[in-house]
Amino acid sequence: MNAPPRRVEHQQTDKGTVPIYTTAIVEQPWSTYSRADHGTWATLFKRQQQILAGRACREFIGNQQRFGMTPDAIPKFDDLNRVLKAATGWELIGVEGLLPELTFFDHLANRRFPVTWWIRKPEQVDYIAEPDLFHDLFGHVPLLLNPLFADYMQAYGCGGVKAHGLGAEALVNLTRLYWYTVEFGLIREGNGSGDDGLRIYGSGIVSSKGESIHCLESPAPNRIGFDMPRIMRTRYRIDTYQKTYFVIDSFEQLMEATRPDFTPLYAQLATQESIPAGSVLQNDKVYNRGTGEGWASEGDV
Ligand SMILES: [Fe+2]
Repeated sequence: MNAPPRRVEHQQTDKGTVPIYTTAIVEQPWSTYSRADHGTWATLFKRQQQILAGRACREFIGNQQRFGMTPDAIPKFDDLNRVLKAATGWELIGVEGLLPELTFFDHLANRRFPVTWWIRKPEQVDYIAEPDLFHDLFGHVPLLLNPLFADYMQAYGCGGVKAHGLGAEALVNLTRLYWYTVEFGLIREGNGSGDDGLRIYGSGIVSSKGESIHCLESPAPNRIGFDMPRIMRTRYRIDTYQKTYFVIDSFEQLMEATRPDFTPLYAQLATQESIPAGSVLQNDKVYNRGTGEGWASEGDV
């Protein structure tokens, strides 16, 4: 039997009240995974693999294969780390769950990616509110093999450590960037034959059956070109599908945008109103103006 995850405190954040777990790094207790745990991995892996074919970006699919991830069993962090360390110098570390912000940023700044070691229960295959092993590992880890994305994640961690010293508003700005890129980002991907379709790279999307389809095929959400200051002003959803997705042209664009020091930008943003999650602005590069169908009127965070 798995030991239950240990919640140590609840922290009030812009995401609502979230459980924060012990900050200790834990050895992945691989031998304690039950047959049901491996079964949950298999169910989710097969289902998402099918849905993501043609929807997730090529980097995601290709890197998952490079890692040798299969539905057969929950991967061992040690096996993945051999591949990852050699490729980009990143390392997966096991954790009990969500970490306090500064601890999380510090890990990223040092190329350590925290992965929740436990997996959801079979009755939670369709939805779980907090990140588990499937979200963290299936969703986040493949892109860490991409050198540009790997650099972006580290730059984000360094930015986080810095923002933490600047105050709550800077952190809110930065969290929005993570949300709309790392968790819910889309990328415009050409295949050389004129098809420059949108593809998914955000972990929150690739680990969700419903949102993997919704983000690309539903007329409801806005799909808007990446714009860093704009994203940092934009509120988001934690309890429904996103009202707006931001589209990057390349991982290079993401990394380049993160290179400058954000301190002057935070100061500038502090004088501006936040933007509701579903708004379209005059200067937006609009791929799709959402119909807004099914949107909740309240609840942007
Ligand atoms: Fe995540």
